[in-house]
This record gives sequence, structure tokens and C-alpha cells, in this order.
Amino acid sequence: MAEKTVKTLAEFESEAARFALSLAPIDRATLVMLSGELGAGKTAFTKAAARTLGVEETVNSPTFVLEKIYLLPRKEGHPMSDFARLVHIDAYRLEKGSDLAPLGFDELMKDSGNLILLEWPEKVADALPTPSVRISITTLPDDSRTISYAP
Ligand SMILES: Nc1ncnc2c1ncn2[C@@H]1O[C@H](COP(=O)(O)OP(=O)(O)O)[C@@H](O)[C@H]1O
Ligand SMILES: [Mg+2]
Repeated sequence: MAEKTVKTLAEFESEAARFALSLAPIDRATLVMLSGELGAGKTAFTKAAARTLGVEETVNSPTFVLEKIYLLPRKEGHPMSDFARLVHIDAYRLEKGSDLAPLGFDELMKDSGNLILLEWPEKVADALPTPSVRISITTLPDDSRTISYAP
């Protein structure tokens, strides 16, 4: 397991950017689980990843809409990645794995062009396939963040 501690929000965003650019599509969607307390930085991590991959619109927390799908640009001059979409899901308000069904989760998982960032995977753990990466963010007393990556 790799681990990185960063002091500032700017460093945190750089780390998220580095991570986003390190991913490449596989034979199904790439699922990234984002765990951590409320306010740890799961949404901030997703925002920075999205910006790095070329999303220009504002990325908001999908706590109320549950899911947001952003088309990723493949413009000249945008190196970015080979993913077609970034899917941001916040499972905070879900109670069980089957609550993912209305979000079309199973279909989304079949498409290798999808990069899925899922906040609060614990809420829907019983329905989740093995993720590509499990990220856990913890806040230290001085507001630094430790970001842990596990397969
Ligand atoms: N070093 C840091 N790393 C990440 N976030 C930070 C840091 N310092 C302050 N923050 C702030 O912490 C908050 C994290 O909130 P958010 O990403 O919405 O958390 P979550 O989605 O995990 O509930 C943001 O407002 C962000 O600006
Ligand atoms: Mg959040």
C-alpha cells in the first residue's frame, strides 16, 4: 500500500492530479473507491482529478443528485487520459448495494471508457465489484491529509 501525506490543499490537488493521470482504461470500468470522514477531501480529490482530465464545468458534491457524469475531452493539446467519462457517485445517502441500481451502476461498470469515483463505498459495499484502487483519506490535527492507496 502506498501512502502520501500532504500539507496544503494545493499539494492535495497535485497528488489527485498525479493519480488521475496514472490511470489507464482496462477491460471494464475503472472503479476508484474514496473513503474518509465527512470533510476529509473525497470531493476535493474528485474535483482535482476531473479538472486534470479536462472537465471544465464546476464539479460539485453529488450528495443530493447522487451521481454526475462528465464527458472527458479528447482535444488536441489535451494529453489527459483515454477515458471517455468521469462518473462521480456519492453513496452517502444510500443504504444498501441495490440502491445503486437506479444509477445504472452495473451498466456503467461494463464500459471501459468510464472512470468511476465513488464516495462512501461502505454504504453500498455488498454490491460493489472489486475496485481498481481503494483510496482512504485521513485528516491530521494540523489539517494535513494522508492519502492511502490500496489495491
Ligand atoms: N490539505 C487539505 N487537503 C484537502 N482538503 C483540504 C485541505 N485543507 C483544507 N481542505 C478543505 O477540506 C474540505 C474537504 O471537503 P470535501 O472534499 O467536500 O470532503 P468530503 O467529500 O470528504 O466530505 C474542502 O473544503 C477543502 O477545501
Ligand atoms: Mg463529498
